[in-house]
Amino acid sequence: MSRSAHPAGPRHADVLPEGHYSAPPADLNALDPKVWAETVTRDADGVLTVGGIDVKRLAEEFGTPAYFLDERDFRARARAWRTAFGGDADVFYAGKAFLSRAVVRWLDEEGLNLDVCSGGELATALSGGMPAERIAFHGNNKSVAEIRRAVEAGIGRIVLDSFQEIVRVAHIARELGRRQRVQIRITVGVEAHTHEFIATAHEDQKFGIPLAGGQAAEAVRRALQLDGIELIGIHSHIGSQIFDMSGFEVAAHRVVGLLREIRDEHGVELPEIDLGGGLGIAYTSGDDPREPHEIAKALTEIVTRECEAARLTTPRISVEPGRAVVGPTAFTLYEVGTVKPLEGLRTYVSVDGGMSDNIRTALYDAEYSVALASRVSDAEPVLCRVVGKHCESGDIVVKDAFLPGDLAPGDLVAVPATGAYCRSMASNYNHVLRPPVVAVRDGEARVIVRRETEEDLLRLDVG
Ligand code: LLP
Repeated sequence: MSRSAHPAGPRHADVLPEGHYSAPPADLNALDPKVWAETVTRDADGVLTVGGIDVKRLAEEFGTPAYFLDERDFRARARAWRTAFGGDADVFYAGKAFLSRAVVRWLDEEGLNLDVCSGGELATALSGGMPAERIAFHGNNKSVAEIRRAVEAGIGRIVLDSFQEIVRVAHIARELGRRQRVQIRITVGVEAHTHEFIATAHEDQKFGIPLAGGQAAEAVRRALQLDGIELIGIHSHIGSQIFDMSGFEVAAHRVVGLLREIRDEHGVELPEIDLGGGLGIAYTSGDDPREPHEIAKALTEIVTRECEAARLTTPRISVEPGRAVVGPTAFTLYEVGTVKPLEGLRTYVSVDGGMSDNIRTALYDAEYSVALASRVSDAEPVLCRVVGKHCESGDIVVKDAFLPGDLAPGDLVAVPATGAYCRSMASNYNHVLRPPVVAVRDGEARVIVRRETEEDLLRLDVG
């Protein structure tokens, strides 16, 4: 399977993957601010705290496993993205990373727009009070019902993903007596340096319309002819968890090339360009993400330079960060159930959640960090694998991590940087109940998505 190409290395190797730290960190109790949310620290007793509340109290009140989200950090990151471009760009938070009505409200208050990619996300966005004109709708196979709902709601833009969809959206909008603003998503042929499953701009995959072979130009030609839609720009999203800006540079170059072609052929200068999301975050101390203002500066410079060269008026830029806004703001708190040392291999630490609350390790070979949260310890570091309670051996939360040798059942451990693509990809595998998301801020904790119950499960099972 192509997965072996992932730089994280072989999942089941009995040695640490290449490039992974092979020695324990100097201080196991230290919390690297790169991977932990802004207000996370240890109190005088060594207990991990977030928003001024310690995790023992949080576990008592909300149970484990649970995601704890630092609202102050979320708002700060959202604001940093909004201000990064100095008001010269539109920031659409990618709801797929994590969406709830509270999050929609925070985004609205912080001045971000919202990107949704399904009827469910659209319903959450609208129900959370996001003004429809600030919502963008994505997806490679939006249903007629979803499109109709979006157009009826007066959504800001629909990102068209195929030739069929150009006609479909135009037809629905006409039927409803509307002119829907749209962008066309193109694939620019960039190989983003990320896991194959989350790279999206190379040609051999399902998203967008290829630039190659004049297909994107043909899509534009057709879109410009239809009166149910107003083509406002071109969209490109090259992948996710990307650190290297060169992929964006090539993408911008090619998108601007298409804008020039459109100007030359149709005499139209499209006013917008959307460069998607995909900016990486730190999951371990080894990751080095860039700050929003650095990314904004780099993207603005690239687009401006390319447009000057093509003698085009620089279009308005939009971006769609998901992970980079919410990812670092939350951690998952688990209780240790069993500790199983395997001679000469490693120690297996079983926690009360697993692949149902974090599928990323199993699916993408993702790396995570973990810390003993309910106390500090001076015991010798031991190489551990943190695993879940599911019935398969791939149920791994943290592949390789050092934890104190006196770790015992009842201890709480916390896995940072689980704000993105963990709750949103959570499942009921083995009929395990999905954990709650608890927002913590200034000494107050509030459930924003409640824990699933057995009644919830049984309600769907009609017997
Ligand atoms: N815009 C579009 C069109 C997208 O498809 C995505 C992500 C984003 C923005 C946001 O990307 P972000 O800034 O969050 O990287 N489940 C995978 C990630 C899949 C991303 C899908 N599209 C993971 O857990 O890594």
